[in-house]
Amino acid sequence: MPLLVSVNNLRPGMYIVNTGASWLEHPYLYTKEGLIRSQAEIAEIINQGFSEAYYDPDQSAIQPEEKISLEGVRNSLAAPPSVSLPEELGAAEDAYTECVNHAKSFMLEARTGKVELESSRPLVCSIIDSVNRNADAMTSLAKIKHYDEYTFAHCVNVTIFSVAFAKYLGFSNDQLYLLGMAGLFHDLGKMMVPVEILNAPRRLTDEEFAVIKRHARLGADALAGVKGIEKEIIEGAGQHHERHDGTGYPDGLCGTGISPFGRIISVADCYDALSAKRVYKDPMPPAKALSLMYEMRGVAWAPGLVEHFIKMIGIYPVGTPVALTSGFKGVIAKANPTQPLHPVAVVVKSPNGKGISPPRAIDLAKHLDLKITQPLAPSEAQDIDTLSVLKSMPESIL
Ligand SMILES: [Fe+2]
Repeated sequence: MPLLVSVNNLRPGMYIVNTGASWLEHPYLYTKEGLIRSQAEIAEIINQGFSEAYYDPDQSAIQPEEKISLEGVRNSLAAPPSVSLPEELGAAEDAYTECVNHAKSFMLEARTGKVELESSRPLVCSIIDSVNRNADAMTSLAKIKHYDEYTFAHCVNVTIFSVAFAKYLGFSNDQLYLLGMAGLFHDLGKMMVPVEILNAPRRLTDEEFAVIKRHARLGADALAGVKGIEKEIIEGAGQHHERHDGTGYPDGLCGTGISPFGRIISVADCYDALSAKRVYKDPMPPAKALSLMYEMRGVAWAPGLVEHFIKMIGIYPVGTPVALTSGFKGVIAKANPTQPLHPVAVVVKSPNGKGISPPRAIDLAKHLDLKITQPLAPSEAQDIDTLSVLKSMPESIL
């Protein structure tokens, strides 16, 4: 029986099989059947952005160093949510709030020189558990909830987007855990730069930005001093500002010289930063943030990475308030992975601003006469309680 293996564990002598799995469901699966002949061939497979392959142990002269459970990985790639979104939102909201409060506490503590990881471990597990049950709950909360203290919510949001993305790419729970920890602590070094620069309610000058840039190295160094810390956490956190073309910092690493964790956290960090509400700017609509990131494909990130992130999060992510061509306003309730411009929207306001009760779900893939004109700006969506809409969605559309 074919077994799934991470491309990092491929070795010359292993026989790859094509199981016929759909590319849409398994975008990172290498499927060219045949014997792997050399290390160079493996390097090329990794370079092309594949993350896993099926091999046949019976036809292989050699076994990989570490096997990944076939069943576990298949489930993580293709399994539908085990819990509906309205049902998951309650648990996810509790875990999210607890994580932001905790991030505030460990970040402020880091200012005094103390770095403590142990108490964060169960919180990262609670995020992974929620994402495993229904990823839309955590990813929508990360955009719906607004905290004045951006630095702390950002740590949690980056954890959420990193974990959700890695789950989509088929990472194991053990890998999600190390990645989640790296995401939570990725900006630890920001606590080691002057607070007046960190919290400046405006865009930074070049000099101030140079000071802020030191946070990547300072954070990695502080983490490296923690007894027993896994090296993947230090690496993932320390490399979140490296860029595929080598123009990032602190080490100017490029291509596969940047660890997979560093690359994933970099995408999550950029998406959250662009789409965040700050004191000096409104949140950028997800579609606009994603289009800017798409323009940086192959430069900031390896070819394929942003494209997969867009596919995972959707052009109109769940929880986005939108206007329709009919003049009605609604909230995106369910993505359509194959037709991203035609998700399911719950319509809550008529063109004259009157509430629609009960809210009506419209599958835009079945009503091609109706289109999304634009995501609503915060000022236009003030009268829509997005979280309540998602929590009270009719089960029939889920
Ligand atoms: Fe950063």
